[in-house]
Amino acid sequence: MVEKLKIVGSNALHGEVSISGAKNAVLKLMAAAILAKGETVIHNVPELTDVNIMLRVIEGLGVKTVHNKAAKTVSIDATDITNITAKYELVSKMRASFIILGALVTRCKEAVVALPGGCAIGERRVDFHIKGLESLGAEIKIENGYVHAKAEKLVGTDIYLDIPSVGATENLMLAAILAEGATRIQNAAQEPEIVDLANFLNAMGADVSGAGTSEIVINGVTQDDLHPIEYTTIPDRIEAGTYMAAIIATRGKGIIKNVLPSHLTFYNSKLIKMGANIKLIEPTILEVSCNQRLNPVNIVTQPYPGFPTDLQALAMAMLTTADGVSIITESLYENRFMQVPELRRMGADIHQERNHALVRGVDKLTGANVKASDLRAGASLIIAALMAEGESEIEALHHIDRGYELFETKFANLGANIVRYNDEKDISDSSVTNVKENINASI
Ligand code: EPU
Repeated sequence: MVEKLKIVGSNALHGEVSISGAKNAVLKLMAAAILAKGETVIHNVPELTDVNIMLRVIEGLGVKTVHNKAAKTVSIDATDITNITAKYELVSKMRASFIILGALVTRCKEAVVALPGGCAIGERRVDFHIKGLESLGAEIKIENGYVHAKAEKLVGTDIYLDIPSVGATENLMLAAILAEGATRIQNAAQEPEIVDLANFLNAMGADVSGAGTSEIVINGVTQDDLHPIEYTTIPDRIEAGTYMAAIIATRGKGIIKNVLPSHLTFYNSKLIKMGANIKLIEPTILEVSCNQRLNPVNIVTQPYPGFPTDLQALAMAMLTTADGVSIITESLYENRFMQVPELRRMGADIHQERNHALVRGVDKLTGANVKASDLRAGASLIIAALMAEGESEIEALHHIDRGYELFETKFANLGANIVRYNDEKDISDSSVTNVKENINASI
């Protein structure tokens, strides 16, 4: 059965929404939990397919896990690790699971992890992860699509990343925790999720400093220094940015709860230039509203603290009806404009050349049947459908389920006219569609 979303647009969103735990933080905390012997409990875990995949990767290592969905907790008891392989079937479904490599090789002295391969939004290489592990002293062989890493002992060193890769920074941080001596990661990624991982590791007994800056120093500790912990994941800044976009784009007014505004400084500054009002009500509560046609703005995606690539597609949807021309430049991924043809089907006027998109604001979008190609492109289609006149249908919801917990309920609570339904008449071509989508489902 093919699940679709039906959205009837052009009504302003009003109300409250509470932000869930950050997908891109919790997945890494789960990998980090295998470093300590004993039961680590992670709180504020969103219910997402990506979390389920990470659990399966960890269970595949012989580690005991308990996922209490009602309590939003995951317990990981890595007292014993009986298997050192992360299989292609899982890693290819979710690239973030490659992060297990650094944790496994430092804890077990050996790891066999499938190479994730490309994905819908770009090539997404892992060469910095591999080179960094080699400079820590791991012997790496790539055979049959798997990375075999071996290291009787990892030794701290200076590692310079050519670009501040989030995943490479995290993988190398994890590997360096039990290395001998100090590791310095230069040109490190500075995302809030990196800071969350460092806080988690330090609570566990590791010695990590500088997270959130471009130089992270990890002083290696021993296995006996690490102990299991209870830890609460930070809120998801991209989810918060998504609901803010929806409220502003529909000229509504809403309260965003459980948000850390300092994680969204650059994004919020662009929203304000577009004409939005953003008010800090409490340290973790924002009020957002907009009562005008949006102003055009230019956007260049950058590593944190710049404009987040994960909010680029959403901003593009907002700007399709702005009062003028906006230029959007995607500088992190080669192919992150997959939403463009779908937005055009809804009446958007977008001219794309390589990694630049020129968005000429039109008076209105009109509802259409569209298809999500990846997680954030899917979210941008929801925003566009909420803005559009008439009814839209969005398919390939599995992409959106990877990163947005209970999204149709949250949008409905804001007054959106949105339902998920099973389209039985599409059953005949669903198998073909699913095969194609699974190939792309590797963000
Ligand atoms: N890169 C390389 N070699 C490497 C590593 C990265 O060339 O060894 C390139 C990539 O190809 C890409 C760029 O560097 O063009 C940035 O990649 P990065 O490693 O920073 O990204 P990531 O760790 O794979 C995480 C998020 C992404 C988010 C990016 C950038 C997770 C699970 N994923 O990916 O989130 O876009 O950082 O902020 O943390 C999403 O949630 O929708 C999503 C795609």
